[in-house]
Amino acid sequence: MKKKNCFTKLIYSTNFFLSIMLGLSCVGAPPHAFSKTEEIKFPDSFEWCVATASHQIEGNNKDSDWWEFERRGKTIENEDRSTKATDHWNRLEEDTQILVDLGVKTYRFSLEWAKIEPQPGNWNKEALEHYKKEILLLKKNNIKPFITLNHFSIPYWFAKKGGWTSPQAPHFFNRYVKKVFENLGHLGIESWVTFNEPVWNLISGYVLGAFPPGKKDLKLLAAPIVGVVKSHALAYKTLHKIAKKRNIPIKVGLVKALNIFETLRKWNPLDHYARSILERVYNLSLLEALQKGRLKFSFPTIVNMDKELKEAKGTLDFLGVNFYTRLFVKFTFSPPFIKTETVAAKDKITEMHWEIYPEGLYKVVTKAHQMFPKLPIFISENGIADKTDKKRIPFIKDHLYYVYKLIKQKVPIVGYCYWTLIDNFEWAHGYRPRFGLYELDLKTLSRTPRPSAIFYKNLIKKKGFSYEKKGFK
Ligand code: BGC
Repeated sequence: MKKKNCFTKLIYSTNFFLSIMLGLSCVGAPPHAFSKTEEIKFPDSFEWCVATASHQIEGNNKDSDWWEFERRGKTIENEDRSTKATDHWNRLEEDTQILVDLGVKTYRFSLEWAKIEPQPGNWNKEALEHYKKEILLLKKNNIKPFITLNHFSIPYWFAKKGGWTSPQAPHFFNRYVKKVFENLGHLGIESWVTFNEPVWNLISGYVLGAFPPGKKDLKLLAAPIVGVVKSHALAYKTLHKIAKKRNIPIKVGLVKALNIFETLRKWNPLDHYARSILERVYNLSLLEALQKGRLKFSFPTIVNMDKELKEAKGTLDFLGVNFYTRLFVKFTFSPPFIKTETVAAKDKITEMHWEIYPEGLYKVVTKAHQMFPKLPIFISENGIADKTDKKRIPFIKDHLYYVYKLIKQKVPIVGYCYWTLIDNFEWAHGYRPRFGLYELDLKTLSRTPRPSAIFYKNLIKKKGFSYEKKGFK
């Protein structure tokens, strides 16, 4: 009963019992649970994809900073080491066949700088040949290679020179990028990513001590972020310059992790403050630098970054968005002063202890689109660590539902990469969290499709799925 009708009837009612009944209905009936099925269909051109990263799957990345970091002891959960990882390096044919079986249009993967340039200026031809073979294999199978030039790990020689804090970082990175493009650029790769999640990588390495170089000091964060922005800008220009000269059409972008940050104790102004700082440093600062050519973030008395980096303005042809979770932020009185917590019911928590929060994907992409209204957006990573595979299908459906909603609102989302293809070396967490559509047997390294792999395959085939929406109204 509509509220307006209900009150009109109540006013005119002379019957006592009837008045009570009508009065109760005016207060409002209890909400009804509903479930409705909607057919979700994606455009034909939508790029279904899975993503991986070289250090996490290839194995034997001996000349990298991560290899050394893993051997410092107690840095990785269970003291795991990447060692052979999934042995992807030696299983190109097998893993390409898996991609073919899944039916993905696009495969996002990264090249390992430490393998291509194990010593400064010494190029490993075998490594370049290997990547060439991988790209050609993908192309032969009609899968688009979507290449990331740096996904966290760097050559150890570069790390020893200061890595991204070194004033020479843009030069070294540019030299590597040039070499790669000269060797692989003609193979028909449309999209290149310079960096994967650089801010998260640097926070983990310089503030949390969880990634190399294993430092824990907030004031160290500014220098490597500047190094990455400059390196990205220079690589963007170099790639376009060579591509133009050779008449190769390319798009160059960057992959940004975006999180939802909320205040933990709503009554506490310090928590609000901490949240706003994290929002700026983690979500906004780098994107703003690429949008306006100015890098800006501060943490009173510790970091005050406000730097013109004009060369970075407009250096994006597309934006990759990685989305995983929502975190609640609080202020603490000891360094690093900002702490995040996961607050969620048990069934909404993953093996990473992250909340499953699909609506967050809608929110972060909406914000990114407002910042860059003309840029195509790729959901370059989204996935769940779930050994049981019970939560993975609903996870994918719920997130894709929001992707679909965004597309309907004309947000130019060109594709979606599930993270990840096969269980892998999950950085500081070692082999415990299982993100794969394919289960990896850690002893035999055999790959077995989980039910979610079959689901993803069918979804790709049908370009959509039936979505059961549950709620209250
Ligand atoms: C990274 C991946 C990582 C995934 C899950 C992203 O931050 O790009 O390398 O495995 O999240 O933690």
